[in-house]
Amino acid sequence: MAEPTGQCKPGFGILPVMTRLPLQTRVILLVFLLGVGGLTAAVWRYGYLQALGQLEQRGEADLALASDRLVSQLQLYQALAVMTADRPALMGLEDPARRALAEALLRQVADKSGALDLIYADAAGHVVVAANPGMIPVDLGQAAFFRRALHGALGRGHGLVGPLKRRAYYFAVPIFAPGGAVQGALIVVADLEDIERSWRGSLPPVFFTDSDGLVFISNRPDLLFWHRDPGQLGLTRPEGATPPLAAGQIGAHDIWQLDWGPYVPARVLHLSRDAPLVEMTGEILIDVAPARRLAGLQAAAVAAICLAFGALLFLATERRRTLALANLVLEDRVADRTRALSETNERLRLEVVEREEAEAALRQAQAELVQAGKLSALGQMSAGISHELNQPLMAIRQFADNAAAFLARGRADRAGDNLERIADMAARMDRIIRNLRAFARNEREPSGKVDLNKVLIQAVELTEARLKGAGVRLDWTRPAAPLYVWGGEVRLAQVFVNLINNAVDAMGGRDDKWIGIGISETGARLSVSVTDSGPGIADPEKIFEPFYTTKEVRGDEGMGLGLSISYGLVQSFGGNIRGANAPGGGAVFTVELDRWQAEQAA
Ligand SMILES: Nc1ncnc2c1ncn2[C@@H]1O[C@H](COP(=O)(O)OP(=O)(O)OP(=O)(O)O)[C@@H](O)[C@H]1O
Ligand SMILES: [Mg+2]
Repeated sequence: MAEPTGQCKPGFGILPVMTRLPLQTRVILLVFLLGVGGLTAAVWRYGYLQALGQLEQRGEADLALASDRLVSQLQLYQALAVMTADRPALMGLEDPARRALAEALLRQVADKSGALDLIYADAAGHVVVAANPGMIPVDLGQAAFFRRALHGALGRGHGLVGPLKRRAYYFAVPIFAPGGAVQGALIVVADLEDIERSWRGSLPPVFFTDSDGLVFISNRPDLLFWHRDPGQLGLTRPEGATPPLAAGQIGAHDIWQLDWGPYVPARVLHLSRDAPLVEMTGEILIDVAPARRLAGLQAAAVAAICLAFGALLFLATERRRTLALANLVLEDRVADRTRALSETNERLRLEVVEREEAEAALRQAQAELVQAGKLSALGQMSAGISHELNQPLMAIRQFADNAAAFLARGRADRAGDNLERIADMAARMDRIIRNLRAFARNEREPSGKVDLNKVLIQAVELTEARLKGAGVRLDWTRPAAPLYVWGGEVRLAQVFVNLINNAVDAMGGRDDKWIGIGISETGARLSVSVTDSGPGIADPEKIFEPFYTTKEVRGDEGMGLGLSISYGLVQSFGGNIRGANAPGGGAVFTVELDRWQAEQAA
């Protein structure tokens, strides 16, 4: 009996897939498949048992039907035997005339009933009258059924009769003499083949075995005359061969696996039932293939549902696992990217620090350059300034001498006059020195509100001595109201000092030396122009380049830095400086500056 283990075997494609899965998943999958296999086997067995139960019920009904049919048909012959035995025609048969009558009667009954033969045998077993002489051996003295009849009971038997060896069933009924003794027996020979014919081929295979184990009646002629040896389950063919038979139990059911020819199924449910009225045992073999098919279908459905459910679950978990893996990869990537970004950030931060340091160094260098430019301008102006300071000093000395002389002469009023002048001179010197100190100061404050007027006054005062010394006429009218612009006071003054100094330098050999300073307003801007009567700019494109100079490089003169420093300063205030030649000759330098506005300061 093979168990249905094959139903849940994994398919060929699963193995390579499984080897790619993680161990844990493989174990779970294996356990799941084993579980489904177990469940399927249990469902199969349960379904099979149920179906076998139904088969058994039907088989038992079929077997009962077959037995009842056989018994009821044979009982007709039994009744015929009993009724015929009572006929007086079967008495006094020593008389040949009566024998002929009896023979006619028996033949008539046989013809009408379809019995193979009706025989009257005397107590010695000799056939006295027969409807069909020659069908049965003449001497029945040893036959068991006949001997039973002689004892006054109903005798039953079966055997092969006639030259054609037909299977027959005998009923022997005793015939009593008037004294009560058994004088003989009437034997009815029923044709089994005739009875069998009506149910041949129908029903599942059914056969009846006699007390010797011989198959004598069956709806499958192939099985006739097979016999069962004592202690044997299966049957042996008439020619002696015993086909193999494997018997097993499923629940309380006997299942036989056999090879009994084309008309008997290979796997059957075996049932048997005694038919005592004919002294035989009926057996039926019911094909279990439909039960197996049904159980198989049920098991396959359960397995399919489980596997589909499992597959869905598996796919869902696989999907989740894949997503989790992708997430991990993503997180790794994000971490890498973050690390790279932080490294870049750190590098940038360092670069920013370096740049800030470089800018600070640059600012320092620029401040130093501006300071150097200022000192250079001061150098240019030093002759004028020292002259400017010398003059009042000389005058002070002269006025002091005069004051002393007047005092000696007792002219205190004149002496007072002179002392007053001395005080004026000293005040003037003080202003010049304050201007110089302010100019030389290193301005560090950020840009802010600056009065352009004040700046121009400062620049003019600083260069006044030089202008005077060089004989330059200054054309400039101080505006009455303050003009506020964005800038730094000292640095702006430096720009204008540079422009005035350059103009003075340019007009060196000229007779008519003149510098004009004008202020004009254009929208939110103020522009200051410094014009001179010099020769004009030789190469206006280059004047703002550092170290560009047309002057002789000796001593403090002509470093070529004045305009480039001024350019940088004006740019730093958000302004603009241009240099060009005036149409009537000479150079015009224009400085544009943003007006100071209250909201800018906020
Ligand atoms: N008003 C001007 N007229 C004609 N040329 C000028 C005038 N101002 C400047 N330049 C020209 O521009 C050049 C550059 O001027 P800048 O002030 O930068 O340098 P510098 O005066 O030569 O030297 P530094 O100012 O350093 O002592 C001058 O050498 C000169 O050729
Ligand atoms: Mg200059």
